[in-house]
Amino acid sequence: MSRAPVIAIDGPSASGKGTVAARVAQALGFHYLDSGALYRVTAFAAQDSGLPLTDEPALARLAEGLDIRFDGVEVYLHGQPVGEAIRSEEVGRAASRIAALPRLRLALLGRQRAFRQPPGLVTDGRDMGSTVFPEASLKVFLTASAEERAQRRYKQLIEKGLPANVTALLQDLRERDARDAARSTAPLRQMADARLLDTSHLTIDRAVEQVLAWYRATVSGSAAA
Ligand code: CDP
Repeated sequence: MSRAPVIAIDGPSASGKGTVAARVAQALGFHYLDSGALYRVTAFAAQDSGLPLTDEPALARLAEGLDIRFDGVEVYLHGQPVGEAIRSEEVGRAASRIAALPRLRLALLGRQRAFRQPPGLVTDGRDMGSTVFPEASLKVFLTASAEERAQRRYKQLIEKGLPANVTALLQDLRERDARDAARSTAPLRQMADARLLDTSHLTIDRAVEQVLAWYRATVSGSAAA
């Protein structure tokens, strides 16, 4: 396996971890993996082929066989762009349900680890630091209050011209947080060796700077050791 450095950014829905992770990757010239997109694409493909979201063996087989390619922010499924389609709240809810299935998670594990390539990888999700890359050079638990996250998600949807209701979004975020934290396989939680970054009152720029500062300190610390 590649020994390229990994920065693992985990956290709850709509905390801004995807935006921060992508910007950190860009600043360092590293690869970027949006692991949530893999769960979303799988949920989308399952819905498309009429698979029940509870059929664990069939979903795991489906996940293994999917031809998924990332190109910048665009995601391709079997050669077709699905970037917008997988970002709906409906697909997000379905992704969160299938993400509780251990065999499905296992089916996506190797795919995620394959993104670890020189010069390095920045990745975001729920279990990047705990399960997928436990030896990451830097682990960050990026969060924000549920109210702030609901507001951010609301703005995102409105900007895209999609219907949104902040009360419904808040309730949905809370349900998704509870499901992600309560599942028995790879639950969402801050690892003991992860740095906490609460972005409730931070701009994206400040959050990106903080992650870069921690990473630089890690690199100079290990060079000095
Ligand atoms: O937009 P949001 O942060 O809600 O979701 P996402 O990061 O795109 O991921 C969609 C769903 O996949 C989440 O609600 C999680 O349940 C699940 N997921 C996971 O279980 N493990 C990951 N590493 C990434 C996402």
